[in-house]
Amino acid sequence: MQHEMFRKLAGHWLTGVSVVTTLDQDGKPVGMTMSAVTSLSLTPPQFLICVDNRARTLAAIVASGHFCINYLRQDQENLASAFARRGEDRFAALAHRVEHTGSPVLEGAIAFIECKVNCVHAGGDHTIIVGDAVNGDAPGGEPLAYFRGSYRRLESITDPQQVWW
Ligand SMILES: Cc1cc2nc3c(=O)[nH]c(=O)nc-3n(C[C@H](O)[C@H](O)[C@H](O)COP(=O)(O)O)c2cc1C
Repeated sequence: MQHEMFRKLAGHWLTGVSVVTTLDQDGKPVGMTMSAVTSLSLTPPQFLICVDNRARTLAAIVASGHFCINYLRQDQENLASAFARRGEDRFAALAHRVEHTGSPVLEGAIAFIECKVNCVHAGGDHTIIVGDAVNGDAPGGEPLAYFRGSYRRLESITDPQQVWW
């Protein structure tokens, strides 16, 4: 399959947008924008992320052994863009805190999941990282979405009458 068709097909899958964070070897916060993120297993509780082998954050996650998936709120588009661009101090003036693992938890995220790396698999030009979910919370809010190469905002979907959890 041609790259163009692959990108087109992949782009037709609606996703949320997350920033996956960890600490580098100097203990400094690092992170990147990611949509290839999913829950994997309930027992044990696991999530997986798919990281480009060229991403600098990959080595930091593998070395630290932990990461935090922060699901972005719909007004955090600028954050998503900043964490996908090279050559920026991504954490400058960004409110974040440490909870369980040390991976930064971003203020304003609608939910976050802290994971400890369980195993790593090769996946073509990406690396699949499976993490054991050890901590998290869901303060709530409207999610930022991504579809066909653009950030999207959904109609309100957080009406308490309509959700079952
Ligand atoms: C909406 C969006 C989703 C993205 N999803 C992923 C992803 O799932 N995996 C990935 O490796 N890169 C993804 N990227 C690209 C990375 O965010 C980008 O390459 C980043 O600069 C890597 O940072 P680093 O090299 O400092 O680690 C995505 C970018 C955007 C804008």
